[in-house]
Amino acid sequence: MSKILQAEDLTKDFSVRDQRGRRRMFRAVDAVNFSIERGNCFGLVGESGSGKTTTGRTVLRLIEPTAGRITFDGVDITKADMAAYRRRMQIIFQNPAGSLDPKYQVGDIVAEGLRANRMCGSRAEYRQRAEELLRQVGLFPEDALRYPGEFSGGQQQRIGIARALAVEPEFIVCDEPVSALDVSFQAQIINLLKRLQQEKGLSYLFISHDMSVVRHMSDRVGIMYRGRLLECGEAEEVIGHPAHPYTRALIDAIPIADPDRSAARTRRPPVYGAEEAVTGCCYASRCPYVTERCRQAQPEAKKIAPDHVCSCHLFE
Ligand SMILES: Nc1ncnc2c1ncn2[C@@H]1O[C@H](COP(=O)(O)OP(=O)(O)O)[C@@H](O)[C@H]1O
Ligand SMILES: [Mg+2]
Repeated sequence: MSKILQAEDLTKDFSVRDQRGRRRMFRAVDAVNFSIERGNCFGLVGESGSGKTTTGRTVLRLIEPTAGRITFDGVDITKADMAAYRRRMQIIFQNPAGSLDPKYQVGDIVAEGLRANRMCGSRAEYRQRAEELLRQVGLFPEDALRYPGEFSGGQQQRIGIARALAVEPEFIVCDEPVSALDVSFQAQIINLLKRLQQEKGLSYLFISHDMSVVRHMSDRVGIMYRGRLLECGEAEEVIGHPAHPYTRALIDAIPIADPDRSAARTRRPPVYGAEEAVTGCCYASRCPYVTERCRQAQPEAKKIAPDHVCSCHLFE
């Protein structure tokens, strides 16, 4: 197997203003390492504000990285002209309604990338290809003449998927593709993405705050917290034998009903962006196993099984 995508020490700082209006840098993604094999799905899990979207947009170079390296299909694209790669790397957005221009017919939205890349020879061919794509995502050819506002959230996401597929990409960042949808539509869209992945040999970076969705989709997973990847590896290994206290909390191995834990939670809500830079482990303020060392030194990523790394002083 070959790697379709690799992120090495990927880092993104944003310039933000503190409460007094002074500029400072906020590290949204902090030296993140992961790789995705061709044809596989890598699931990135973490709560809101942990840096998932920034990671996904940075590997596509929609956001420029502050530091680190991005390799796509064996080529270092960290500073490359992305024109040659845009078609091969696509994104599906969290909010389908907001990502579809309401003024355009669905057929034109789906064919936009085809036109930009001159992938068809005639008007008839563009129309035919758009209709075929709509059929592939479970819509009707007639839907090409309708407008995004006439569709449900689930159907709008199907349109977003058809648009991403149109240019025959190899790699797609799926950024919380079902989070904005009614629960009744979520499984349908997940299954559609899974089927399309298998049929077309696609590689996904699949972003979600929902561990059960990620588990269903992914070959490998990464657990993100405050910009750092705390744990990463083969999905069943990481989810079946979670090592990091945060991962264990996420998948409920640690009961949330624990009075000490819930008290700690209310005292220190995870407010991102407002915090000062962390010297030690970024999870120290919430960790039930915290030691002095955790507050002082950032743990290194340590290999604990063949495809399982964890950054926690408990495992050093
Ligand atoms: N353009 C930006 N400018 C400043 N801060 C940002 C910007 N984009 C994201 N952030 C901050 O970076 C952090 C991570 O955001 P994001 O990647 O959207 O997280 P997630 O997708 O996991 O919810 C958040 O604290 C967010 O407020
Ligand atoms: Mg996000």
